[in-house]
Amino acid sequence: MKALILAGGSGTRLRPITYTGAKQLVPVANKPILFYVLDNIVAAGIKDIGIIISPETGQEIRRAVDQAGLWSARINYIIQEKPLGLAQAVATARSFLADSPFVMYLGDNLIGKNISDFVDAFHRNAPDAQILLKEVPNPSSFGIATVDPGGRVIKLVEKPPQPESNLALVGIYIFSPKIFEAIEAISPSARGELEITDAIQRLIDWNLQVNSDIIHEWWLDTGKKDDLLNANRIVLDELIQADIKVIPGPDSKITGRVVVPADVTIRNSTIRGPAIIGSGVRIVDSFIGPFSSIGNNSSILNSSIEHVVLLEHCEINGIDRLEDSILGRNAVVRKNHSKRGTISLIISDDSVIEL
Ligand code: G1P
Repeated sequence: MKALILAGGSGTRLRPITYTGAKQLVPVANKPILFYVLDNIVAAGIKDIGIIISPETGQEIRRAVDQAGLWSARINYIIQEKPLGLAQAVATARSFLADSPFVMYLGDNLIGKNISDFVDAFHRNAPDAQILLKEVPNPSSFGIATVDPGGRVIKLVEKPPQPESNLALVGIYIFSPKIFEAIEAISPSARGELEITDAIQRLIDWNLQVNSDIIHEWWLDTGKKDDLLNANRIVLDELIQADIKVIPGPDSKITGRVVVPADVTIRNSTIRGPAIIGSGVRIVDSFIGPFSSIGNNSSILNSSIEHVVLLEHCEINGIDRLEDSILGRNAVVRKNHSKRGTISLIISDDSVIEL
């Protein structure tokens, strides 16, 4: 079994964060989403991994994965020149995948479950495709499946305006090499892409076996701001164990499950978990509330924050209360005492400020 991770695409729904970086590298609990994907694939015993990258963000992804060097697997990078759809990405990886069955995993999908059972079920039943489904409240935003009582998939439609069910295709699939024939038989959808959903429908039309599993654990497609904050909250809640490497002075307090590396400065402050603090962070005269992930070398000074994702080198200074926020690298939010009542901004395209 091989794995193909799709880490191309332009991340338009996560702008402006994705103007300067790949969406798959946006951190959740201070760890890039893509690293959770690699962890899950390697934990299922898969050692041959292809990562589809785009010409724009491919180098950054390559550097991040190679520098981390955390996985005992062979990792190949395959460039998809244009974002022409998930099925086109699979076709691009054909020579890497050869005649092996493979897990296809979208690099911005996070699930609260190991994929090992899913892989075992594929080996046991040997279908031509196996898909993961999850009940969702907004089915027109996803690929949607109609399934018979035995779990056999009867019909798949990509983002239907009038959905027949609320079972969405999670971005994790397993295929036999038959999928390549199916991809050759489809044409681009209305959005101009070769849809993997249409290719799987082809397998169904040819009476080949397409199995499904419904997951009850959480699934997050981290493509948008609220999804990202949600993912951060759930991962901090479920996966973070207390790991406090500094002894805070008598003027400070750390409670709950908090990760604090040894080189963090904490003065006259409170940190309440679950939260993760990056290396080199300074927290002075401040309160860090639950569900906060603070990127490396950020400073929180004379401020109170909660339920936030800060990337690296951010500064929050003199802010009474900051909540539900994502700040990109080097972002600064500071009170200017000489300009009372005035707001002064330098923000990038697609930024959102709620006052
Ligand atoms: C893609 C698939 C869709 C699936 C979703 C899961 O959508 O086309 O069927 O439900 O991923 O994340 P996209 O993110 O390309 O809109």
